[in-house]
Amino acid sequence: MKFFLDTANANDIRYYSEMGLVDGVTTNPSLIAREGRDFKTVVKEICTIVSGPVSAEVTGNTFEEMVSQAREIASWASNIVVKIPMTTEGLKAVKVLSDEGIKTNVTLVFSVSQGLLAAKAGANYISPFLGRLDDVGSSGIELVRDLHKILTNYGFKTEIISASVRSADHVKQAALVNSDIATIPANIFGKLWSHPLTDKGLALFANDWAEFQKKQKNNGGK
Ligand code: G3P
Repeated sequence: MKFFLDTANANDIRYYSEMGLVDGVTTNPSLIAREGRDFKTVVKEICTIVSGPVSAEVTGNTFEEMVSQAREIASWASNIVVKIPMTTEGLKAVKVLSDEGIKTNVTLVFSVSQGLLAAKAGANYISPFLGRLDDVGSSGIELVRDLHKILTNYGFKTEIISASVRSADHVKQAALVNSDIATIPANIFGKLWSHPLTDKGLALFANDWAEFQKKQKNNGGK
């Protein structure tokens, strides 16, 4: 499973990319707004840090607005994927953009039918929102499992990005149901490798090593 960072914060992206762990980045209007910087400047900067796909979302609601914004956004860098909302107008836009070779990520997917339609329209990626489905008492993971089965059954090339990831357990569950990608907020990303028993074990090793060194020294190095 590939790991994307779900953030528009260039410092976080740089930090985790240097560890070799970031396969791509997803942003949305809320994440861009949080940075308080110019949209184009931020997206272009992210594309210089990460060589994998970087999703940047359109904000228009009509087919015409979405297509025109998507063409503009796609011209900013070769690794841009244009995020299009799961609406009727959005699906029409995805079809046209896909015919033009512009990569798309259909976002705000909450049902199997939405995901299937997006794949049929030619989306390169679909983004089911795990946390937001869980929030309303549905199962985000169940949706990813169903989508994966259906896309595989029919040989679609569309990749599933598990989005709205709220915990390390979401990442594990997404991997168990064959999600192609999990897009993970920076605060969750940082928790993926920590475990109290790892910290405890390290402290124990350090302590035993220090005791051993002390003994060696007292024995004159023998
Ligand atoms: O990129 C979209 C997304 O991951 C949203 O997450 O936590 O706002 O539901 P959240």
